[in-house]
Amino acid sequence: MVLQTVTIGDDITKDLQATIKAIAVPGKGILAADESSGTCQKRFDGVKIPCTEETRRQYREMLFATPNIGQFVAGIILYEETLYQKASDGTSFPEFLKKQGIVPGIKVDKGLVLYHNSEIEKVTQGLDGLGERLEEYKKHGARFAKWRATYNITDTLPSDGLIHENAETLAKYALTCQHHGIVPIVEPEVLLDGDHTIERCQIVTEKVLHAVFAALKKHNVKPEFTILKPSMVISGKENPNRAEVKEVARRTVEVLKKTVPADLPTINFLSGGQTPREATQNLNEMHKLGNLPWNLSFSYARALQEPALKTWQGKKENAANAQKEFYKRAKLNGLAALGKYSEEMENQVVLVFD
Ligand code: 13P
Repeated sequence: MVLQTVTIGDDITKDLQATIKAIAVPGKGILAADESSGTCQKRFDGVKIPCTEETRRQYREMLFATPNIGQFVAGIILYEETLYQKASDGTSFPEFLKKQGIVPGIKVDKGLVLYHNSEIEKVTQGLDGLGERLEEYKKHGARFAKWRATYNITDTLPSDGLIHENAETLAKYALTCQHHGIVPIVEPEVLLDGDHTIERCQIVTEKVLHAVFAALKKHNVKPEFTILKPSMVISGKENPNRAEVKEVARRTVEVLKKTVPADLPTINFLSGGQTPREATQNLNEMHKLGNLPWNLSFSYARALQEPALKTWQGKKENAANAQKEFYKRAKLNGLAALGKYSEEMENQVVLVFD
């Protein structure tokens, strides 16, 4: 069943156009800072920082206040809690980001639950009441949204049922967003977990993206107002012979060209557990292939934040150095999004906010 075929009004269209224009900018990407409190706890535990509402607020403020970060970061995805929090000067975080020239976005899915009888596969929940929530988030400054669906790879998974279910849910979410003037990030994440080959990942990713774009089309979601946030085509994390950068780039672009319409303005990858350097190299290598019909950039969480979080340690006196680490990763990824990154820059880039 197709949800709705209502046409989008002029004002809503203008909102969507303006948001896409601000985000689909060559050399700029998105910071995913929308970790749920549970995920944030895991990340903070890793560096022994207590995870409270206040420490999460301080951490996010440290990132968002990084001088000149708007040169490389066009948008930031917030968790609901952060949307309603304030910076130390009393400005709401969405306002704070606007002043940095950054578009605020919001994670709107409500996390994963097991799919039917599966012990592994999960579906994403959160469609109930989504329209009302979007209106509320929009009032508080959010201009784009994110919804994540996940796919495990084994010899037999993902199942056709899950691929279909996730595609339908992503399409319904995306359509609802567009009707409320919010640009949807559609995030089908083929997980890195496991020892699968890159060939297997390619087959799965192609099937998943094919299903997602068929569902988006069926539900009349406008590709020109949609951001795709895919995983890269890559060997499983536990594979002893992981494919190298050139192969990742070649196979990823091959799948995207087969499945993603050319009128979709921007593709912003997730990092999915790749090291920060790996995620930067892979993106850069894709640009070396040339001839890309879309803006091709990043929407990383871990690959942008890891060095900064380690340096911060929850301490005020470390904030400036942590910001420099964040700035460095954002700058290198900004260069990678233009194909202008080189590995030597990892050591050359001086930690200043130039
Ligand atoms: P990672 O870059 O850490 O995979 O996070 C991206 C994201 O937003 C996951 O939903």
